[in-house]
Amino acid sequence: MTDLADRLEELDSRGLRRRLRLISGPQGPRVLLDGRPVLLLCSNNYLGLADHPRVRQAAAEAAMRWGVGAGSSRLISGNMKLHRRLEQRLAEFKGYEASLLFGSGYLANAGAIAALARRGEVVFSDELNHASIIDGCRLSRAETFIYRHADTEHLSWGLRKAGRRAALIVTDGVFSMDGDLAPLEELAQLARRHDCRLMVDEAHATGALGPGGRGSVAAAGLSEEVDVVIGTLGKALGCYGAYACAGRELVEYLVNMARSFVFSTAPPPPIVAAAIASLELLASHPHRVERLQANAAALRAVLAEEGLPLGPSTTQIVPLIVGSAARTMELCERALERGLFAQGIRPPTVPEGSSRLRLTVMATHRAAELVRAAKLLGGLGRELGLGAAPPVASPLEDDRLAGLPEAA
Ligand SMILES: Cc1ncc(COP(=O)(O)O)c(C=O)c1O
Repeated sequence: MTDLADRLEELDSRGLRRRLRLISGPQGPRVLLDGRPVLLLCSNNYLGLADHPRVRQAAAEAAMRWGVGAGSSRLISGNMKLHRRLEQRLAEFKGYEASLLFGSGYLANAGAIAALARRGEVVFSDELNHASIIDGCRLSRAETFIYRHADTEHLSWGLRKAGRRAALIVTDGVFSMDGDLAPLEELAQLARRHDCRLMVDEAHATGALGPGGRGSVAAAGLSEEVDVVIGTLGKALGCYGAYACAGRELVEYLVNMARSFVFSTAPPPPIVAAAIASLELLASHPHRVERLQANAAALRAVLAEEGLPLGPSTTQIVPLIVGSAARTMELCERALERGLFAQGIRPPTVPEGSSRLRLTVMATHRAAELVRAAKLLGGLGRELGLGAAPPVASPLEDDRLAGLPEAA
């Protein structure tokens, strides 16, 4: 048996060992981290709904009225009226016929992709897609063609090679570690031309982009063209769980074929009720989305003025690219000492050599504290000799070169 201590040791030696940090109290723009107050600049609680009184109250009331657990999977005895209500609201919100809840975004991606692409077919995945998409591709047993980030020419070439085996194109809407947007218009055209489904993961777009926070697909006016939209309830909506929005037939298919739906306990009533409350808040307070976008623009602008090496973000996710894992963690620890928490992100979450602080903004941050944070990072960046953005090597240019599918 391999010695786990040796494997951990090896992670340590490469600067890649992770450790859990401990937050006390509720999530918010400022938290107690390992007992010290810090400004939180790495949470996905983008709209500040995770600790909103109305959302908390909805969860508490639902627990008293319907109990804490659903007791079984949806297909056995766990399908409750609340689930159906949230699914209807989500479908309406996203402009689709139907939606289906999953236990988490990870499960939604893994289950939906594995159901929609099968052995003998080809699924096309952006090289910077989230790990849950990568794992969904693996689970599907379809061949995976990984196209260079947002490179629709590369994708188009792969689609031509795959011919009629092309089953699914899948992309993040907002890329989780870079904060840039997928070229949805072109992806939709390619999907149409090659008679292939298109799936967009809106984990970081829902609540952050588009009319009323409806996401990147709605922002691009492409709801008719995108076959499946995945979203999570655990980020801007401040809860937990996830959903797939699609046409009725596709949702019916997922009910039967998405194993992470079929073989998993239904989402708990308090969380479902909390998500309904979050959606209502989003509808009645759309200015939260505007506030998030304004805060994000302010942070990006001051970081750029500070001459820091930023990725190509246009959203609330702002990557400060450092390069090596060790230097990234050094910057992270120095910022923490000064009361700023921005977690370092290292491989395998991001490509080798592109470790970073993934800064995320919330609507509940005050502009002045974001400016102070950016200036603090500017000073620390100078201490560590960080200059303007270094070119980030594409992972496809190294030994992870994608296999090319052959047409049948
Ligand atoms: C793009 C993307 N998709 C899916 C997920 C997974 O969502 P969840 O946290 O609900 O499992 C994440 C979360 O990190 C993500 O960033």
